[in-house]
Amino acid sequence: MKRVAILISGGGSNMVALARSMTGDHPARPVLVVANDPAAAGLAKAAAMGIPTAAVDHRAYKGDRAAFEAALLAPLEAAAPDILCLAGFMRILTPGFIARFAGRMLNIHPSLLPKYPGLHTHQRALDAHDAEAGCTVHEVTAELDAGPILGQARVPVLPGDTAETLSARVLIEEHRLYPAVLRRFASGNRTPLWLP
Ligand code: GAR
Repeated sequence: MKRVAILISGGGSNMVALARSMTGDHPARPVLVVANDPAAAGLAKAAAMGIPTAAVDHRAYKGDRAAFEAALLAPLEAAAPDILCLAGFMRILTPGFIARFAGRMLNIHPSLLPKYPGLHTHQRALDAHDAEAGCTVHEVTAELDAGPILGQARVPVLPGDTAETLSARVLIEEHRLYPAVLRRFASGNRTPLWLP
């Protein structure tokens, strides 16, 4: 059984979708949820699901990334995850941290990468008059939002869409895509999954 730790920053809806999926014959189980904000709503959701949680407040480290990451590593190392999932984790990790989890760290990003790495993905898709949008699960490498793609799901951009309506449509697909990719990844399958 693979051990999965999940890093979050906010509501944690992707974390919930991942955690719910890891039952029965699934090859992995959630062992820890960590947030960089003690007020992240996802922490209570994880605790309610019986998953151990930790919070490492990045603001306490005042821009000292090395110290923040050392604090983040402590609960992670104690939980000994095989796989680390970023799920709405909004801090940039250093190459040194990423190297510790090389080949076993995943992220979900709300765009059809390589389009729109970084922030404000939905507004950028609208500004570009894209006909479709979507989400990507990829392996995390030192370059932001640029690691090997493990899966994508697409949605249409509809007339009258705002960043809010589009992000809500994409989020539904995130909850479908990320569990599907994690299940494959945990069983050793890194072939990209293309959902319609
Ligand atoms: C999700 O849409 C995720 O793709 C995005 O943040 C949201 C988190 O929602 N992630 C990023 O933008 C990463 N740069 P959640 O906390 O409800 O899962």
